[in-house]
Amino acid sequence: MDRGWTVFERTCMEHWRAAGLLALPEWEEFEARLLVERRRLEELLWSLYRDRPDFAFQFERLMEEVFAASRVRPQALKVRDRQFPPESGWFSASSQVGAVAYVNRFAHDFRGMIDRIPYLKELGVTFLHLMPFFRSPERQNDGGYAVSSYRDTNPGLGSMDDLEALARALSDHGIVLVADFVFNHTSDEHAWARAARSGDATYQDFYMVFPDHAETVAYQSHLRDIFPEARSGSFTWSDDMHAWVWTTFHSYQWDLNYANPAVFRAMAGEMLSLANRGISVLRLDAVAFIWKQRGTSCENLPQAHTIIKAFQSIARLACPSMLFLSEAIVHPDDIAAYIDPRECQLSYNPLLMAELWEASATKEVRLLALSLAKRHRLPDGCAWINYVRCHDDIGWTFADEDAAELGMNGHDHRAFLNDFYLGTFPGSFSRGVSFQYNPATGDRRICGTAASLAGIERAQLDGDGADLDTAIRRVLLLYGIAFAVGGIPLIYMGDELGVINDYAYEADPAESADSRWVHRPRWSDERVAVRADAMTVAGRLHQGIANMARIRAAHPVFATQGISVIDSGHHSVLAFHKQHAGQLVTVVGNFSDQPARLDQHMISSLLHGAVGTNMLDGCLVLPQEPLSLEPCAMVWILS
Ligand code: GLC
Ligand code: GLC
Repeated sequence: MDRGWTVFERTCMEHWRAAGLLALPEWEEFEARLLVERRRLEELLWSLYRDRPDFAFQFERLMEEVFAASRVRPQALKVRDRQFPPESGWFSASSQVGAVAYVNRFAHDFRGMIDRIPYLKELGVTFLHLMPFFRSPERQNDGGYAVSSYRDTNPGLGSMDDLEALARALSDHGIVLVADFVFNHTSDEHAWARAARSGDATYQDFYMVFPDHAETVAYQSHLRDIFPEARSGSFTWSDDMHAWVWTTFHSYQWDLNYANPAVFRAMAGEMLSLANRGISVLRLDAVAFIWKQRGTSCENLPQAHTIIKAFQSIARLACPSMLFLSEAIVHPDDIAAYIDPRECQLSYNPLLMAELWEASATKEVRLLALSLAKRHRLPDGCAWINYVRCHDDIGWTFADEDAAELGMNGHDHRAFLNDFYLGTFPGSFSRGVSFQYNPATGDRRICGTAASLAGIERAQLDGDGADLDTAIRRVLLLYGIAFAVGGIPLIYMGDELGVINDYAYEADPAESADSRWVHRPRWSDERVAVRADAMTVAGRLHQGIANMARIRAAHPVFATQGISVIDSGHHSVLAFHKQHAGQLVTVVGNFSDQPARLDQHMISSLLHGAVGTNMLDGCLVLPQEPLSLEPCAMVWILS
C-alpha cells in the first residue's frame, strides 16, 4: 500500500505519544502486538472504508478504544492471554467437550448456573455456550437474538457482575465461557435504533435505511427469506423514519450497516467489553449476512470476511486469547471460507449434523462418507464444533454437487428428508416439527430434540422395547460420531437425558409461531435424578455420553482433526480411522435399524491385522472374526 503507515502513524502513534501513553507500564506488551497486527488491520479497514471521509477519524478513535480496552483488561484474563493464545491450540485437546443451554431454562439464572457446574463436570464439559443473555425486548426477541444492549444482561438472569462471577467460577473448573456476538443486527429497541427512529441521522446511518421503496426492490429480488412464515421480504417499514429498514430475520431485528466505519468501531467496542467480562469464545452469529451489495444474494460476500478478520485483528490486540466461532449455515464451500486462524478458528459443522440425520433416515452412509472424506479437513489451528442439533432448526445443507456425484437429486432428497423427519414418510421413526415452510420454493426445515428425531418419542408412544433400544443407540451413535470424528463435540443440554419434544410452546402466544421452541428444554429434576440408573432412557444416554467424554479425554488420538474414511463394504456402515503417535482407532457405526455384519477380511484390514479393544465397552475385537453390529450400534476400536 503506497500510503505506508500514514494513517496509523499520523493519528494513533502521535496521539498516544503526546498523551503520555507510551510511558505506561501496559504499553510494552501492547506495542509488541501492535507491531504484528497494525499493518493487517489498517489494510483490512482501508479496503472497506477508503472512500469514507471519516475513515481516519474513526480509525484513530477505534485504536484509542482498543488500547484503552487492553489497559483495563483484568489481570486474570491477561494471564489467560499469555497461557492460552489461539496458537496454543488448547481447543483441539481431546479433553474438550462442549455444552449449550439457555440460562433460564437450565439453571434459572447466572447464580443457579454455578450450582450446575458439578453436573457439567460429570459430562466432562470444558466449553459452555450460554444462549444470548443480553437485554432484549420483553415479548418478541428471537430467543435472545434481538439484542437491545450488549452491555446489559436480561435482568431476570442477574447482572453483568453475576455473569463475571460465573465466568470466574467456570474458569476455576476449567470451563471456558462462550457467548454470542450478535453483530449482524440489533433489536429495534437498542439505543441506536431508538435514536434512528427519533430522526438522528448519525444513527440512521447505523442501519440500512431506504426512504425509497424502489431501492429495496432492487435488492430484494436477489435475497432469500430466512423466516418466510413470519414475513416475506427483507425490509420493514418504519412509520417513525418514513423509510424501509433492512431486516434479514424478524422485523424487529434491524441489520447493522457495516459500510459505515462508525458501526464497525461501535461493535468492536461492544466486543471488547464482552471480552473483558471473561468471555473466552465469541460465537459470531449469522456471519453470512453482514455485508450487503446490490445485485448479489448479500450472503458470504468477500467484505463479510474482511470485517470478521478485522474484528479478529482487534481481538489479537486487546484480548488475544479470544477465539471466534463461526455460525454459517450455508453451502459447505461457503462455511469453509470463514474457517481460518486469522478469521474464525472454530466453526459449527452443520454439514456433519445434517448428514448424520440423512444417513439415519436413508440407512445409507454414502453421502456422509463422501462429505467426511472431502470436506472434514480444516486448516491447522482450527477446529470444528461437531453437533447433533442445536437451538435452531436442521436444514439440509449438503452440497447438491455431492449428492449428484452419488446420483441423487438434492431437491428431491431434501423433500424426502423433510417427510421422513416430520414422521409422515412410511416407516419413519421420527417425530419432528416443520419450521419455516416456504410455499414458493417448497423448502422447509425440521425441529425436534435428538430423542424425538431419533425415534425415542415414537417408540415410547407406540413402539416395542426393540424400537426403543434402537432409538437410544441411534442417539448415542450420532453423538458418538460427533465425539470421535475430530473437533469439539457439543451436547445440547437435555439430549444427554433423552428429553423429548415439548409441545407446550404451541399454547404460548410468545412462542407458538416459532417451532424451534419445541426443542429448547428445561432442566428436569426427574430425569437428572435417574441419570445413574442404566434401566432408564435418561440413564443409558447420560452414561453413554459421559463414557464417551471420558474415553475421548484419555486418548490424545481424538485430538487429531484428520480422519481416513474407509469403505466398509456395507451400505449402512460408516468406518473411519484416526491415527496419532502409534495409536490407531477405528470407528465403526451401523446406521441401519437392522443388524449389520462385517466379515473377517474387512475387520482384519480395518485393524491392520492386530487385536483390538472396543473402548466403549472394553470387549476384545479379533481380526480373524466377523464383527456383528446391532441396529445403530457403534464401536471405537483401539488397536
Ligand atoms: C442465528 C441464531 C438464530 C437466530 C438468527 C438471527 O442464526 O442461531 O437462532 O434466529 O441468528 O439472529
Ligand atoms: C438460516 C440462517 C442461519 C439461521 C437460521 C435460523 O439457516 O442461515 O444463520 O441460524 O436460518 O433458522
